[in-house]
Amino acid sequence: MKLLVFAGSTRQKSFNRRLAHATVAIAREAGADVTHIELADFDIPMYNADLEAAGTPPDVIRLKQIMFEHPAWIICTPEYNASYPALVKNTLDWVSSPVKGNPEWTDGFKSSRGKVVGVLSASPGALGGLRSQGHLAPLLINLQCWLAPQNFALGHAGDAFDEQGQLISEASRGRVRGVVDQVLWAAERLAR
Ligand code: FNR
Repeated sequence: MKLLVFAGSTRQKSFNRRLAHATVAIAREAGADVTHIELADFDIPMYNADLEAAGTPPDVIRLKQIMFEHPAWIICTPEYNASYPALVKNTLDWVSSPVKGNPEWTDGFKSSRGKVVGVLSASPGALGGLRSQGHLAPLLINLQCWLAPQNFALGHAGDAFDEQGQLISEASRGRVRGVVDQVLWAAERLAR
């Protein structure tokens, strides 16, 4: 199963980028064919319909194509003000917007419809960014994704990783593995 993993942060020492990195290793152990992308590698401006009318940025199309090719996704989202950050919203808004004059992408939900999505979060706080997940869920459902019921919020993230960027706690690794397994399980069945 092709699994796409990305974090909703571009910060160099981001906990969510580290969680995504750790998730990639866990998902590969689980047998997934993992693509790990960094949103910093996509040149995507703040959404503006005037800008879009002048031409959808090539990196939006590139990201649409990558998402379309992966039936399963895991998103590691930070929490800003009890919700998910603008980077996540902006990225998903661009990805869901139809591309005028491009017959391949006139269906805005082509790249997200039917994807099985697991959501993880990490925060230095005790709740681990759990509240961001509750806000991200309706957005993903609007994109016609199937949201995995299992989730994981990594609290006190500053103490959670070793020098190689792996999760120290076996319990945390087990929670990530639980989400990964459920996402792969559901994506396999939807693909039948
Ligand atoms: C935060 N942070 C934060 N943390 C949290 O657990 N709940 C929250 O509501 C907020 N709110 C918030 C607002 C804003 C504007 C910022 C910049 C930060 C802290 C946040 O979890 C922390 O900066 C993380 O390190 C961000 O994730 P990455 O970049 O480490 O992945």
